[in-house]
Amino acid sequence: MADVPSTPQQPLSDGIVPEDIVARTENRWLVVMVAMLGVMMAIIVVTGIAGALHPSSNVEIVDPLSLHLQGEFVESNLGTALEPDGTATVRIIAGQYDFIPNCIQVPTHTPVKFRLTSPDVVHGFLLPSTNVNTMVVPGFVSEVRTSFPAAGEYQMPCNEFCGLGHHAMWAHVTAVPKERFANLTPLERTSCAAR
Ligand code: CUA
Repeated sequence: MADVPSTPQQPLSDGIVPEDIVARTENRWLVVMVAMLGVMMAIIVVTGIAGALHPSSNVEIVDPLSLHLQGEFVESNLGTALEPDGTATVRIIAGQYDFIPNCIQVPTHTPVKFRLTSPDVVHGFLLPSTNVNTMVVPGFVSEVRTSFPAAGEYQMPCNEFCGLGHHAMWAHVTAVPKERFANLTPLERTSCAAR
């Protein structure tokens, strides 16, 4: 037993990969990983630009405690308004646990600007199959712009956990043909019945 060497002095047995090959393999993996990262970054940037997906870039503050008393978000000013330049502005309050108003009609083939704010906690505003997806933060006005190329109905879920009623915080946006929208009364523009 005396001629058995201690473990560190044993020569490498057959099958252990030489150091230069290990280094070469690791370098190849490094290149593959960096390339994958590059591709994923490119996908994010390209889809972001092509689909106009971006967080709202405006920083606009509003007093969440007096929304219902004064300013842009008083009840009579909520819903869809046609601007003199032909575009539409939709004003919505997202609160626990509903959107006010929770049914919205918008015209097709028209630039639509959504302006939202919250009186209580953070909510999320999402229109599936569109570029609209924003957080609604109390104290700030979230603004997102889009347009609806075809008539149709969009579910409008709150996609930011906001409390026990979060799962039930849903509403509707209905895109109605531009000509028909012009004939809707202000009440009909926020009515669920007119769908
Ligand atoms: Cu509002 Cu979740």
